[in-house]
Amino acid sequence: MRKYFILLGLVILLCYLSNFIHAQEEKIILENKFGNVTFSHKLHTESISCQICHHKGLDSPKCSDCHTKDTEVNYMSAFHRKCIDCHKEKAKGPVSCNDCHKK
Ligand code: HEC
Ligand code: HEC
Ligand code: HEC
Ligand code: HEC
Repeated sequence: MRKYFILLGLVILLCYLSNFIHAQEEKIILENKFGNVTFSHKLHTESISCQICHHKGLDSPKCSDCHTKDTEVNYMSAFHRKCIDCHKEKAKGPVSCNDCHKK
């Protein structure tokens, strides 16, 4: 019985890990009322290090774990500042509302 549980644990761990790797390949879709934002995690990770975006480390990869509508840097400006500032700086990637937010 105990062996069975260890095995089960390993399977769950593997699923979790493959999810983690998968996450870096897939398009990330951030849903909101204003229009969903889709961006390629893979394309971005080719030339940008994880820490630039996940600036507090990867223990909590979701920005919403820390940035809510009540924090100093709120949920929306966390994304807008991070994403748009870099696109402007590099003169690459979308900067206007509808190029990111698709209805
Ligand atoms: C250009 C910015 C950017 C870079 C670079 C980046 N990420 Fe992300 N990552 C994001 C955003 C945005 C999300 C979605 C966060 C959310 O849902 O709040 C995310 C989500 C994730 C998630 C969670 C996936 C999920 O489906 O919940 C993991 C894991 C992750 N990133 C790992 C990494 C790793 C590892 C690297 C470096 C190889 C990396 N990220 C580089 C922006 C980035
Ligand atoms: C573990 C907590 C945590 C996570 C997760 C996190 N942040 Fe932050 N972030 C902070 C804190 C703390 C500050 C400082 C300002 C404040 O207190 O609101 C900050 C500041 C910022 C700032 C303004 C300063 C700067 O560096 O330009 C931006 C932009 C930002 N975060 C974007 C993001 C994005 C995008 C994500 C997700 C990819 C993210 N953050 C995930 C905690 C976090
Ligand atoms: C540190 C710089 C940097 C950051 C941070 C960054 N981007 Fe980008 N982004 C780029 C560059 C450079 C390109 C152009 C890539 C190319 O065409 O080779 C790009 C392209 C894009 C594109 C068009 C290609 C695609 O992925 O479909 C979208 C959409 C995009 N970014 C969304 C975002 C979002 C949303 C965020 C914030 C979560 C973000 N970016 C953060 C640099 C950045
Ligand atoms: C580089 C891509 C990008 C551009 C350009 C951009 N946004 Fe966003 N915006 C995002 C991301 C990413 C989020 C946060 C993730 C989410 O909830 O979809 C967000 C969040 C928002 C939210 C908050 C949604 C919520 O649920 O709290 C609003 C409103 C918004 N944006 C409006 C705008 C407007 C207006 C413009 C043009 C002035 C604009 N955005 C330009 C990427 C972008």
